[in-house]
Amino acid sequence: MSLETLELPEPSRAPPRRVAEYLKAADACIEQFVRRARGSIPSFVPSDYVAAYHALAALAPRDDLHNHALCEWGSGFGVVAGLAAMLGFDAYGIEIESDLVDAAEEWLSEQGVSVQLAQGSFVPHELVELTDAAEGAWLNDAGDDAYSELEADPDDFGVIYAYPWPGNEELYELLFERSAAPGAFLVMHRGLDGTTVQRKPT
Ligand SMILES: C[S@@+](CC[C@H](N)C(=O)[O-])C[C@H]1O[C@@H](n2cnc3c(N)ncnc32)[C@H](O)[C@@H]1O
Repeated sequence: MSLETLELPEPSRAPPRRVAEYLKAADACIEQFVRRARGSIPSFVPSDYVAAYHALAALAPRDDLHNHALCEWGSGFGVVAGLAAMLGFDAYGIEIESDLVDAAEEWLSEQGVSVQLAQGSFVPHELVELTDAAEGAWLNDAGDDAYSELEADPDDFGVIYAYPWPGNEELYELLFERSAAPGAFLVMHRGLDGTTVQRKPT
């Protein structure tokens, strides 16, 4: 089974002021966190949040969404999950680094944005062998998956957002194909190759 790639319309305007202010606050908070962490979490790299906003804003009104629940895989500061919440999604994030989960919970609550975060792996335990087998996987799979903490299953989300380490995009697609619901969307940031939207066939 292969994923369908969607062409979304070019955004006709900049994000609204509330979103622009939220993203400015996110940049400042992340910069401070990274300076304090002094490189101790090298796998955390912030994504293109404006592109993520435009992709989610284009998906939100579609009537072919399986549901309005989004999970950010490897949520870092939870910025994209927060954008999803601002667009009316039920927003969730799974992050392996507990320091990031704590920092994200604090800053999202300061922003008044409701996101449910869980510490652990987004790789469902029955699929861990895929990450073990993947050459060059730059994925921290130490630890249990976090779905029970979210009281959810991997196929409970209409949209998944992810920003993998470069070279791991195909592995993330495979994990999505194997775990997401038919009809779910995968929004993925691919560094210099931009942000794509794909859909699992129904
Ligand atoms: C490139 S960063 C992206 C962070 C965030 N999504 C963003 O766009 O700002 C990837 C994140 O995935 C986390 N991560 C790596 N492996 C993970 C796993 N198995 N489960 C959950 N998080 C993981 C890293 O700690 C890191 O915060």
